[in-house]
Amino acid sequence: MTGDQVDTSGPLLFFDTGVGGLSILREAQKLLPDAPIVYAADYAGMPYGMKTEEELSTRIPLLLGRLVERYKPQLVTMACNTASTIALDVVRSVLDIPVVGTVPAVKPASQITKTGVIGLLGTSATIRQPYVDRLADEFASDKKLLRFGAPDLVHSAEAKLRGEIPDPQAIQAAVAGLIEQEHGDEIDTVILACTHFPLVEEELQKYFVQPVQFIDGSQGIARRIAYLTKGTKWPETKHDGVLVTTGELDQMAPYCKKLHEFGLRKLELL
Ligand code: DGL
Repeated sequence: MTGDQVDTSGPLLFFDTGVGGLSILREAQKLLPDAPIVYAADYAGMPYGMKTEEELSTRIPLLLGRLVERYKPQLVTMACNTASTIALDVVRSVLDIPVVGTVPAVKPASQITKTGVIGLLGTSATIRQPYVDRLADEFASDKKLLRFGAPDLVHSAEAKLRGEIPDPQAIQAAVAGLIEQEHGDEIDTVILACTHFPLVEEELQKYFVQPVQFIDGSQGIARRIAYLTKGTKWPETKHDGVLVTTGELDQMAPYCKKLHEFGLRKLELL
């Protein structure tokens, strides 16, 4: 495909390490219920939050290149903050279809905080990114942005979607990591800067002593996807969505019930 030709017949492809990107897909499906979906989970590479920038900026474009070749999507959503804050530019430079990224919702958080103290929970890799520094400088320079890396919450969210009880210690530690910082008791807005974290929002809520509002980018991303695919004639017959994993197919069994709620009934290996 070249120039201004855009093939609008393909599915929407969502990409994350595991089921975190379902927090984005959930909002996208509210706006685009008929869109065919391919959900790619890089379980073999999980957790991204503990990998280096070099590893991720090589791995992610390679995987997305293979996925785009195989599924011919019309649009890719990097439903992962870690992947987006590190590799969004390189992915955009190698793919010739629109790529929507997921980056921490610093701007909206800064608009709604009343105390001016915002917490940001992400993976260890995300919170150290210059991308996040730039968002903080641009949109929250007059606010306090307290960051905390909570990689264990990724596993809590994965466990919850397998139908298990997420480890309360991991949840408690993530909250403590924010509220025990200087001014942490003034936090009134918490950015969930990892797509896994909205999946354990209820659990997080319980450990905050003060009332807080959570914010993530999922609704804005869904609106962006709907805007970029405007005019697409989605298939009239509903096809099963695809879950493609770089891990083991057997590993997906405990997730199937949840995946079916999103219409993801076909399991494939990359
Ligand atoms: N869901 C990913 C994110 O938004 C992180 C998961 C992982 O660390 O593998 O950053």
